[in-house]
This record gives sequence, C-alpha cells and structure tokens, in this order.
Amino acid sequence: MKKRSIISVFIAALFAMSFIVSAHDNPTKKDNMPENVKAAINKSCFGCHNSDSKNEDAKKELDFKKLDGLSTIKKIGAYKEIGEAIEEQEMPPKKFLERKPEKKLTDEEKELLINWSKKEAEALVKSK
Ligand code: HEC
Repeated sequence: MKKRSIISVFIAALFAMSFIVSAHDNPTKKDNMPENVKAAINKSCFGCHNSDSKNEDAKKELDFKKLDGLSTIKKIGAYKEIGEAIEEQEMPPKKFLERKPEKKLTDEEKELLINWSKKEAEALVKSK
C-alpha cells in the first residue's frame, strides 16, 4: 500500500512537471499577444507560418512559434513585414483565399493586426 502511494505521488509529480515544461515550451503562453490578435493570426496566418507547417517557404520567411525568441532587430523586422504584408494585401496569399475564403481577414482584423504589429515594432525600437 505504501509503495503504491509513493508511486502514484511520483507519477502525479511527473505529470505536473511535464505540464509545466510544455506550458513553458509553448510560446503563446509566455508572450503577451492580445487574445484578439492571436485569434486573427490563428485564423489567417498561423497554419502556414509555424514550425510544423509543411509550407517551407512560409515558415522560412516567418514562424510565429519562434517570433518571441528572435533577436530584437529581427523581431522589429518581422513585425514591420507583418504589417506591410497585410496592408499591401499580400498576405494571406490570394490563391489560398480563393480556396479558403473563410480565412480572409475582416477589415477590423486587418486594422487590428496592422496597428498591433506597428506598435510592437515601435516599442522594440524605443526599448533599444
Ligand atoms: C497559405 C499559406 C500562407 C498563409 C495563410 C499566410 N502566408 Fe505569409 N507567406 C506564405 C508564403 C509561401 C510566403 C513566402 C513567399 C512569399 O513571400 O510569397 C509568405 C511570406 C510572408 C511574409 C514575408 C514577407 C513577404 O511579404 O513575403 C510575411 C511577413 C507574411 N508572409 C505574413 C503573413 C501574415 C501576417 C499572414 C496572415 C494574415 C500570412 N502571412 C498568411 C504563405 C502564407
């Protein structure tokens, strides 16, 4: 009986540890991206632009999972490009939206993401 409860405590501890490690591993947990920004990116960008994406070109250009770990200079560049790509209607790609019109950003979402990325870039420039 004793032995068993020690084992179950051990297993519970392992569980808790793996949970903490995975939470720490997940960049969306430690960044301070507003929920509405995150939702818009998840809807229209994340599928192509993340480390596990099969779209090699997309993830080479921009990986939202690694964004937080970039150097300040690279992050500033990334935020600027995000804003520009949306402003100039380059992203999400037109061909993709023809197949998946539900992934299109609404005007509000566009504005939200453009303002957010500009603010992030400016804040980083100031912090340097
Ligand atoms: C269907 C896949 C796909 C989706 C969805 C997508 N992208 Fe891209 N993205 C790409 C590809 C492929 C490239 C690289 C080639 C190119 O530039 O066209 C790219 C390049 C980029 C670049 C690099 C600079 C540039 O303009 O080429 C940025 C920034 C970018 N995407 C931002 C975004 C944002 C922000 C969203 C969501 C609003 C988004 N992407 C949605 C596939 C995608």
